[in-house]
Amino acid sequence: MIEFRNVVFSIGDHPILTNLSFGVKRGQTRVILGPSGSGKSTILRLLMGLWQPDSGSIFVNGEDITQVPPERMREIRRSMGIVFQQGALFDSMTVGENVGYTLLEDKHREEEIEEAVERYLRMVGLDPEVRDRMPDELSGGMQRRVAIARALAARNPEVLLYDEPTTGLDPQSAERITDLILDLRSAMGKTSIMVTHDIADAFKVGDRITVLDRGAVVFEGTPEELTSAKDPFIEEFLAPFRKAIAAANIREDCAPGTQRPATAPPRPQPGGSP
Ligand SMILES: Nc1ncnc2c1ncn2[C@@H]1O[C@H](COP(=O)(O)OP(=O)(O)OP(=O)(O)O)[C@@H](O)[C@H]1O
Ligand SMILES: [Mg+2]
Repeated sequence: MIEFRNVVFSIGDHPILTNLSFGVKRGQTRVILGPSGSGKSTILRLLMGLWQPDSGSIFVNGEDITQVPPERMREIRRSMGIVFQQGALFDSMTVGENVGYTLLEDKHREEEIEEAVERYLRMVGLDPEVRDRMPDELSGGMQRRVAIARALAARNPEVLLYDEPTTGLDPQSAERITDLILDLRSAMGKTSIMVTHDIADAFKVGDRITVLDRGAVVFEGTPEELTSAKDPFIEEFLAPFRKAIAAANIREDCAPGTQRPATAPPRPQPGGSP
């Protein structure tokens, strides 16, 4: 459905992506994991056709978007919904205007927009009453939900792109956002790409994970495979996460009567070896 093939991209003489390849099958969620500045948001900008790679190809449904004219690129962009880094809502518009923005742009009727705004707010677990509030009157977690509702309302896209959807949220709100992302995949079968530096989110949401380091892929595989990867960069990158998991496991073992549900996503084990 989506494929980056040997994509090279630089800004001036500063290389950003050195040779990037990965694919996302229909209905799958691909996580791009990497530290700040590794080129994650750049990948989404290239996929939306906002920037052009220096070389390589980017396929969306079999069509190389680096070769299409601008009008066609605009159509392809319409088939993708994006949740921007930090949610990025229009702060001078109400929640309802934010969610209905693309529909208004497409000149839909007012009642139709009202109905869609209500439907998508409900879908992301918000009370439609919030439509008249301004974004800064909502909590960070609610703002992210509005951003997801806006991405969905944008022409019911086939593909959803999430840029750091949980950054800056408290752990519970972050957990609810990743639950929502999982629900959207299972309920609506959306193909998704989530870029993040958060390893826990990556393990929870990703069917497959690509790890980037300074614009190059250092790992590609399932979350399970990532836990046993031997690459020194991966070892170092995962170390704080392994420590946190070990500490959480100790706390859980000490708490009386706590049992993790059988459906919990697989967690990496400290030490990493199978
Ligand atoms: N508009 C720009 N002009 C010049 N350099 C840029 C621009 N946007 C990004 N870069 C550079 O490209 C590199 C990758 O940036 P990108 O935003 O893709 O990183 P990221 O992985 O999304 O980081 P973060 O986790 O902080 O969001 C960085 O070195 C950054 O400085
Ligand atoms: Mg970024």
